Amino acid sequence: MERLNTTSAAQAAAPDDIMQALRSEIDACDTLLTEALTRRLKASVRIAAYKKEHNLALYFPEREAAILDKISARMEESPYGDLVRTFYKDLFRLSRNIQMKHVFPHNIVLIGFMGSGKTTVGHALSDMSGYTYYDVDTLIEQEEGRSISQIFADFGEPAFRTLERNMIKRLSDKEYAIISCGGGCVLDTSNIVNLRQKGKLVWLQGAPEILYERIRRQATRPLIVNKTFEDIRQMLENRKHLYRDAADYQMSTDNKPVNTIVAEILNMLTQRQED
Ligand code: S3P
Repeated sequence: MERLNTTSAAQAAAPDDIMQALRSEIDACDTLLTEALTRRLKASVRIAAYKKEHNLALYFPEREAAILDKISARMEESPYGDLVRTFYKDLFRLSRNIQMKHVFPHNIVLIGFMGSGKTTVGHALSDMSGYTYYDVDTLIEQEEGRSISQIFADFGEPAFRTLERNMIKRLSDKEYAIISCGGGCVLDTSNIVNLRQKGKLVWLQGAPEILYERIRRQATRPLIVNKTFEDIRQMLENRKHLYRDAADYQMSTDNKPVNTIVAEILNMLTQRQED
């Protein structure tokens, strides 16, 4: 027993040294990385402040693409090129997040008629800004354990509106959030009052023909089942003034790719601010 211990101690000495040296190498890299990252993130915040002061667009995808190109050229011979590019994409997202927090420290609330793109745009905005995405209808469905259509069928629209009001009240308290609301949230002014406390409201607009085309075949919206184009056009017409009155900003989503809409929204929000 004694002999075995002595032998293994002698044998372990060399690997331990190697391990120690490798760990020191990692520690040295981490020191460099944390210093470099801190320096880089500080520069990002200063750039955000500069852009805010000079009313420049916050989101400038060409610059990110140019950085990635440089990194790719530098990593051409390396087996880690793809990994480093993935890391940089995460880093860009972190940078955009701290820039956004600096320039636009409000929730972004998406309102608009059914089919205007709130969910799709909301997800993409969240991805771009690093703000957390909340979808009012989805959260209601999760809590109730049934779909919006089922809630309408089982309890009726007034009960749904109560659930919607309660959910909006809770979400209005979030910070650095993207909140996507159901198309009828503007019917109740208390929703708008709540959402305004920490958020700016963006109305996603669409032409009735385009909205109708997007929603007509979907069975998930109880209010449009068996409705004609004329019904939908009329419903939108009736609500338009509510969206207009509630909105701090507005943006048409017709015939634009999601990335364009998101870039336009981010730049609109960060370049034009009332406060
Ligand atoms: C509604 C819109 C729906 C959903 C519910 C009622 C409305 O949300 O909240 O079916 O009154 O416009 P989307 O706008 O996300 O479809």
